[in-house]
Amino acid sequence: MTSIIKTDDGSNTLYSNTFNDQYHSTFGALQESLFIYIQTGLNYCEQNSLKIFEVGFGTGLNAILTFIEGFKKNINIEYHTIELFPINIETINQLNYFEFISNDQKLVYKKLHNCKWNKKIKISENFTFQKIKYDFNNYIFNEKYDLIYFDAFAPDKQPSMWSDKNFAKLYDTLNNKGILTTYSSKGIVKNNLRKAGFKVTRLDGPKGKRHILRAQKL
Ligand SMILES: C[S@@+](CC[C@H](N)C(=O)[O-])C[C@H]1O[C@@H](n2cnc3c(N)ncnc32)[C@H](O)[C@@H]1O
Repeated sequence: MTSIIKTDDGSNTLYSNTFNDQYHSTFGALQESLFIYIQTGLNYCEQNSLKIFEVGFGTGLNAILTFIEGFKKNINIEYHTIELFPINIETINQLNYFEFISNDQKLVYKKLHNCKWNKKIKISENFTFQKIKYDFNNYIFNEKYDLIYFDAFAPDKQPSMWSDKNFAKLYDTLNNKGILTTYSSKGIVKNNLRKAGFKVTRLDGPKGKRHILRAQKL
């Protein structure tokens, strides 16, 4: 069960009663996604063709913002995202992200939610998308990526997702120099990332969040 919350920048997020956690920062869902995944992740990468893996599709906010930024920069993106507990479409339709995006982008956002699971879909000339319905803890990777958005529920709410074993899997699936960004800079997260082999950098966070992490495969 989820309920809709309005965050400080006016954009909505969801609260999960199952995990007792919200999907984004209450200081601003949109500002958090833009800062941590687009600015610190996508815009840090210099390639004009990128493969991205997201842990936790959720509302699809990171996915639509990536589509928008990729279009602006005229780069090719293949975006894969894993989700074990998809949100029903009635709830998605009640979120107010439509107020922040254009009509064309609205159509893309709907496509991201309505398209088939476990199938690569060409959303536009430069954007290929695949939603994977699977438990990330048991997922075995068979492709390589340049960028990972690690957007699981918080480490104290769902510790298994943040294990060194999972980070080692992500490390292996990244290309050399590939990066992972995440909103949590907790000690356990930094330690587990380092155990998995990552070089971890702590960065200033968006409003309401002291620090975030960018981790790199060397
Ligand atoms: C913080 S929310 C993600 C927010 C999302 N990136 C967005 O933009 O809305 C965490 C997500 O991880 C999903 N999740 C929880 N456990 C999972 C698991 N074992 N495997 C895959 N996804 C999982 C949740 O259902 C939820 O959608």
